[in-house]
Amino acid sequence: MELLLDTANIRLIREAVSTYPICGLTTNPSIVSKEKRKDFFPLMREIREILGRNKTLHVQVTRTDCEGILKEAEAIRKNIDEDVYIKTPVSREGLKAIGIMAKDGFNVTATAIYTTIQGELAAMAGAKYLALYYNRMLNLDIDADSVFRSTAQAIAMSGLDCKIVGASFKNIMQVTNVFADGAEAVTVPPELLDQAMANPSIAIAVDNFNKDWKTVYGDKDIAQL
Ligand code: E4P
Repeated sequence: MELLLDTANIRLIREAVSTYPICGLTTNPSIVSKEKRKDFFPLMREIREILGRNKTLHVQVTRTDCEGILKEAEAIRKNIDEDVYIKTPVSREGLKAIGIMAKDGFNVTATAIYTTIQGELAAMAGAKYLALYYNRMLNLDIDADSVFRSTAQAIAMSGLDCKIVGASFKNIMQVTNVFADGAEAVTVPPELLDQAMANPSIAIAVDNFNKDWKTVYGDKDIAQL
């Protein structure tokens, strides 16, 4: 299981990295634009510094033609580092670029995946991660669980070195659903993780444990015994 953050907000990243078991981070042009920082590469390098080199960083291209995607991939590699995953939408041109980048030794994350065939083609082309868009599928009346399950099954049967990273989440139940569907990773906005941990039942349970403790041990905690 891998948990990635779906944000480019430095404050949220710092908080989340020190709290949750984070394995990496994904961005896309919309997520980056929300930060209103013109200094794109310094922002990406700052994120890399917080993450460290042992976590994965997935940076999305903006060009839609194969040649443009390849140029952006080179620029990303040059200005960030060689470990970065080049996040590339699985369009016809994107697929062509994914095949070339994989052969050239780039780490590639295929993205904007709504159908099983997109995922299968990207996996065969050499992508290491497949970002499947759960909530966006539901918005289109696509059976998202079925797409996740069939893609996971195809990867498992092929033996390819490729992982599904569930993406596009609007609530935590969607996140747990995709793990049950066979996704090995998820990318989640930190706000959703915080919401899940703010469940009042947790605080009530802890409060009740402590009330019982106090009936015997008073105000002493375990370290004071
Ligand atoms: C991450 O890889 C995706 O770009 C992101 O999760 C899409 O999320 P959205 O559907 O909320 O825009």
